[in-house]
Amino acid sequence: MAEFALPANSKVNKGKTYPAPQGATKVRKFSIYRWNPDDGQNPRMDTYEVDLAECGPMILDALIKIKNEIDPTLTFRRSCREGVCGSCSMNIDGQNGLACTTAIEDCKGTVKITPLPHMEVIKDLVPDFKTFYAQYASIKPWLQAVSTTPSGAERLQSKEERAKLDGLYECILCACCSTSCPSYWWNGDKYLGPAILLQAYRWLADSRDEMAGERLDHLEDPFRLYRCHTIMNCANVCPKGLNPAKAIAEIKKMMIERQL
Ligand code: SF4
Ligand code: F3S
Ligand code: FES
Repeated sequence: MAEFALPANSKVNKGKTYPAPQGATKVRKFSIYRWNPDDGQNPRMDTYEVDLAECGPMILDALIKIKNEIDPTLTFRRSCREGVCGSCSMNIDGQNGLACTTAIEDCKGTVKITPLPHMEVIKDLVPDFKTFYAQYASIKPWLQAVSTTPSGAERLQSKEERAKLDGLYECILCACCSTSCPSYWWNGDKYLGPAILLQAYRWLADSRDEMAGERLDHLEDPFRLYRCHTIMNCANVCPKGLNPAKAIAEIKKMMIERQL
């Protein structure tokens, strides 16, 4: 099995190794980022040897097994364990993804797991989503309409209007895309990033919403929208198969069309 080697100048220390239990028949190593804000130590990579013969098939299964049976101090987020809540997003073998939908057998050698890149870390694999959620709130992610509907009636959509939300409504706000985007790495405080822009377009594309002008005004800014340089990492990495780059291109098109 390949060993994960830390760069010589790394501020991340090599940590402890937790050996597999005696009698283990199918051992796999997991090298996992550890950092505790309360112990004053540099981050480290701990290695856990897990018997896959006694473990579920997904990366999240291995993390839960490590926490339950080897090291209860390991900290990570998870909830649904089926790719719908977005909370188990992390970097697995160099690629952002969901721990619950990434199969261990699709990873080679020692499995290296670190938090989502370029976010503040709260502890171990838990990133701080404060800025991300504030950016989400800034796009007013709810239906805004001023016209009245006949009393008690719903705002209806045709099948065609509803279809325009496909590829958008499925987003689970896991931030895998935004944290794979170099523009977001360098300007994450000002550039909204692919996840939030896909969400912004989800409301711009909704036939029931009546605030498209105001929504576009908010995005018309050198940083919020236009820091997308079509790098496309976002579309390659989305665990739901969505294409934030396309949504961003649609917003840019709306910007041009409203000037015509
Ligand atoms: Fe996650 Fe995909 Fe939504 Fe980005 S677009 S937040 S990667 S589900
Ligand atoms: Fe970033 Fe995707 Fe644009 S990776 S630069 S948001 S195309
Ligand atoms: Fe919900 Fe992985 S635990 S998406």
